[in-house]
Amino acid sequence: MIMSDIKNDIPKHLAIIMDGNGRWAEKKGKNRIHGHSHGVRAVQEVVEEAVQLKIEYLTLYAFSTENWSRPEEEIGILMKLLVNTLRSEFEKLLENRIKLNVIGNIGQLPEIVRNELEYVVDQTQNNTEMTLTLALSYGGREELANVLKQLAYKVKDNIISPEKIDQSIINEHLYTQNLPDVDLLIRTSGEKRISNFLLWQIAYAELYFSKVLWPDFTKKHLHKALTSYQKRERRFGKTSKQLLG
Ligand code: IPE
Ligand code: IPE
Ligand code: MG
Repeated sequence: MIMSDIKNDIPKHLAIIMDGNGRWAEKKGKNRIHGHSHGVRAVQEVVEEAVQLKIEYLTLYAFSTENWSRPEEEIGILMKLLVNTLRSEFEKLLENRIKLNVIGNIGQLPEIVRNELEYVVDQTQNNTEMTLTLALSYGGREELANVLKQLAYKVKDNIISPEKIDQSIINEHLYTQNLPDVDLLIRTSGEKRISNFLLWQIAYAELYFSKVLWPDFTKKHLHKALTSYQKRERRFGKTSKQLLG
């Protein structure tokens, strides 16, 4: 597949569940942490390729609300890795005109991570080439519970009437309020589940499961996923005939 073909029907919003770092390391007889640091290489490659392909929105699942149950040591190292990566990649984000965005329960993250995120989000906010969203301390159910809570308060305070609540109002209260629906969701490592990621936003996403462990994921694998996506007919409830007409 040559690039010009792939570029024809690029998903506007690509979301990725980056899974398999631990198994990658274990296979090599190494500590899980080793897998996480190699996972950063895959992030760099996929982000760069996404810019080349003119994907407008790339959302990466980096840490879930459930991941707080992992051993403290692993969490600590993941947080450190995040801060270091934000620092080392900062110039590249500016060069590529990438806007950094974060979704999730950010208040739960360590202060050093929050400060670094705040700085990079602020410094890149006017960039227009691509929006790179990191899902951190993110859980889809928690996001939806938050929406319900915000709307309940607004009803209680007479800011909004219950009849006015519809899909677009719900959208406006999600962490992803500034993002379009997901077109393609990729999960690596062979697991076929959603693990509480973007539950509302993937309602009509195409799903692609790759057996490749995240640290081994390259632009070649990304191209494969995009080619699969481009062969699909997204009917959104209609018939094939309707789409042709
Ligand atoms: C994904 O890799 C990274 C995070 C969840 C932070 P894992 O750490 O889940 O790797 P496996 O699934 O155990 O191989
Ligand atoms: C999902 O991966 C979360 C991220 C990739 C950040 P997990 O490895 O935590 O998911 P489960 O627990 O296997 O479903
Ligand atoms: Mg995993």
